[in-house]
Amino acid sequence: MSDTTATVKYRKDYAPTDFRIDQVHLDFFLEDEYALVTAELNFSRRTDSNATKLFLDGEDLELQEIYIDGMALSAEQYLLSDEGLQLLDVAESFVLKTVVKIQPQLNTSLSGLYKSGSMFCTQCESLGFRRITYYLDRPDVMTTFKVSLSADKEKFPVLLSNGNLMDSGDTADGRHYSEWHDPHPKPSYLFALVAGDLGVLRDTFTTCSGKLVSLYVYSEHENADKLAYAMQSLIESMKWDEEVYGFEYDLEIYNIVAVGDFNMGAMENKSLNVFNTAYVLSSPETATDSDYEGIEGVIGHEYFHNYTGNRITCRDWFQLTLKEGLTVFRDQQFSADMGDAALKRIDDVNVLRSVQFREDMGPMAHPIRPDSYVAMDNFYTSTVYNKGAEVIRMMHTLVGADGFRSGSDLYFERYDGQAVSCDDFRLSIADANNRDFSQFELWYSQAGTPKISLSSSYDADAQRFVLSCEQSCQPTPGQDEKLPFHIPLLTALFDKDGNELAGERVLELCEQRQDFVFENITTEPVVSALRKFSAPVTLDFEQSDSDLQVLMSYDSDTFNRWEAGQRFATRAIFDLMTSLAEGKSIAPSPKFLDSMVEIANDKQLSPGMKSYLLCLPGHAALSGQLDVIDPELLQSARKVLRTAVADRLQDKFSELYDAMSSDEAYEPSQEQIGRRRLRNVCLSYLSVASTGNGVEMCATQFADASNMTDSVSALACLANLDVPQRQTALSDFFEKWQDEDLVVDKWLSVQASSSASDTFARVVALKEHPAFDIRNPNKVRSLIRTFAANPVHFHSADGEGYRFVADCVLELDKLNPQIAARIASAFAQWHRYEPSRSLQMKQQLQRISEQDKLSPDTSEIVKLSLQA
Ligand code: PHE
Ligand code: ZN
Repeated sequence: MSDTTATVKYRKDYAPTDFRIDQVHLDFFLEDEYALVTAELNFSRRTDSNATKLFLDGEDLELQEIYIDGMALSAEQYLLSDEGLQLLDVAESFVLKTVVKIQPQLNTSLSGLYKSGSMFCTQCESLGFRRITYYLDRPDVMTTFKVSLSADKEKFPVLLSNGNLMDSGDTADGRHYSEWHDPHPKPSYLFALVAGDLGVLRDTFTTCSGKLVSLYVYSEHENADKLAYAMQSLIESMKWDEEVYGFEYDLEIYNIVAVGDFNMGAMENKSLNVFNTAYVLSSPETATDSDYEGIEGVIGHEYFHNYTGNRITCRDWFQLTLKEGLTVFRDQQFSADMGDAALKRIDDVNVLRSVQFREDMGPMAHPIRPDSYVAMDNFYTSTVYNKGAEVIRMMHTLVGADGFRSGSDLYFERYDGQAVSCDDFRLSIADANNRDFSQFELWYSQAGTPKISLSSSYDADAQRFVLSCEQSCQPTPGQDEKLPFHIPLLTALFDKDGNELAGERVLELCEQRQDFVFENITTEPVVSALRKFSAPVTLDFEQSDSDLQVLMSYDSDTFNRWEAGQRFATRAIFDLMTSLAEGKSIAPSPKFLDSMVEIANDKQLSPGMKSYLLCLPGHAALSGQLDVIDPELLQSARKVLRTAVADRLQDKFSELYDAMSSDEAYEPSQEQIGRRRLRNVCLSYLSVASTGNGVEMCATQFADASNMTDSVSALACLANLDVPQRQTALSDFFEKWQDEDLVVDKWLSVQASSSASDTFARVVALKEHPAFDIRNPNKVRSLIRTFAANPVHFHSADGEGYRFVADCVLELDKLNPQIAARIASAFAQWHRYEPSRSLQMKQQLQRISEQDKLSPDTSEIVKLSLQA
């Protein structure tokens, strides 16, 4: 069942434990049908406590033996419940020994010790360790671990845990064992164990002080030829963290293991990262450019956690953004340094706007440091991760790169080896820079996306320009009134020809209303505000089409160049929506179309940048800006504009398509990625042009593609069209790739996201397809979650999409509550849809909530959603 109980936990209730754990020794005896876990825990009471009772977390454990200081306990000396074990009378210091039996092969929640394929692995964050043994399962209890494990030697030749390998050898009956010691004190959530028959890629890294580290990346044997890019990314990450933050790796060994069944992307367990195969395995034939980018980013992310998360960890789970916001920020910096920084920024902002902004508008809206939760797993959100990273980025902007490094150094000087709070980080950055960040704290305590309204006035005689800023923030659940935030606004001014009138400045908006004065401005300027997206806010700023065109063509900040184009496109799409709704003629904005022509013809733009500028804003980003969403109307308007661009630029797109073709060997380099991206954007437009041979081009590219990027791009275009080539391509693709799990995932999601008319029937059928497996989170995400994000078919007017997804939630809830809860959140925005859809979504939420024995995870999401 689930790993949390249905009570609400509050941040304000934090109190340290009465007892410390000074040392842990774990022994695992692994068998096919069960595992025996022997734990020896050395407890000592804190000096400021006189407690004689001790409660240890434990879930789904079968207690077999229990001793204190070597003496077996009698039944009166402890109490067992569904939540754990209470010791009724303990001394100041003592050694507890327990033996528990667990059944990893039956663990479908993928939390604790479980089986993925033939291998054993663990996932302990956040509350999984209590499903392995009785323990103080909370991040502020840090201790050193010794672990021994034994299993059948033939079936499980590889036995791994955290830290350094101390011993290994064979025992009787064809078994073998290994012993590990991790000298760094750590909380239980960073514990890991793996046992399996695995292939491996080995390498080494020499740290800045000359220490040699052995690196291993493991996977099932059949995938062991797809590990090179992950290894390369690990080495780059190690180098980068030394250079940029001065963080040197602190053990002799670093292991990464790829597993096929995993609830999240990956896990930063000390020196033994466990990864979803999706973020490890790659080859040009099976992985796309964005898969390669994902691997680099996630390998970096988990590696960077070794300092920000492991060496300094969280005092309690409310502080999750302390490690996640900071580590996402660090992985974003890393990817920006490895690739194209401006395009990386656009990607990151797109995620923030389409996922996090939506959280802020819904019933689950919470501050990056939440005040309460029922199921902690529900708070691994885009708010904690992505908005958390934006909050760190704002500090970086306010104190500059050097100031940020000094702050990070001070943070480690003060807290290395400890479990701390978000305040401790914020104050380290502030103190190192002599800044007052007390108002900045509101970013941690207040939920919601602030809105900044800008207006301006220009006095030609005085050559003075005044930018007036006003901030506001909508109420969120439990927070009716918001205080003004401390917001860094990067701003520059241009004239109409794109010459800079005022260089970039950080305007610090702290009041609710504030004026910023620019002197010596010789002509009425065009404002480039919120450059680099310097704060996670929305801007309300009336700028004329021609001002937007100036920014689109000349802004020296690439992000704002792109942003001006997106704003222009959004305006064009919303105008079309109004015309469609009123039954008026639907002619897309000629000025907008002209601007697209200009971009397509621009010879200065890199192919990558051009491809971004040519893409219209997505459905999620657009619907976030609407008060009431009519998905059909929005989709139709977007389609009209897309077709108009395709028709207007048909010849240019064909020309660019040819120009971007190449027969170079595949490399995930910036240069090649940009060219492929532009080529595939052209193809996608051509596939929807009213005339021409776009469909045949897709079929040809699909047939000839030598890499997965080109293959799946063509397939996705075809999958959207009601044409005979579609079925052929889908069948061929499956035929060719049916044995490659990660490629089958792409095959599922291409169909689940399709706009073609029979998508719903297909998805229903695919759920019964032998290639689908409801126990595998990657399969569920590819088919069910992708479908639940399909703007047309999930929201089909008759409600069949909603019913289907609700049925899936109920089925999943019995197997894997974490995944069920994530799917259920597709209904959280019900109140923002037009009345008929809104009602139907709400009815499905009600139906889910009436199910008995609903997990705390799903029930929390559903209950909060119904309160909206
Ligand atoms: N801590 C992991 C990360 O962000 C995510 C994770 C959370 C994985 C919970 C598994 C379970 O790197
Ligand atoms: Zn993380």
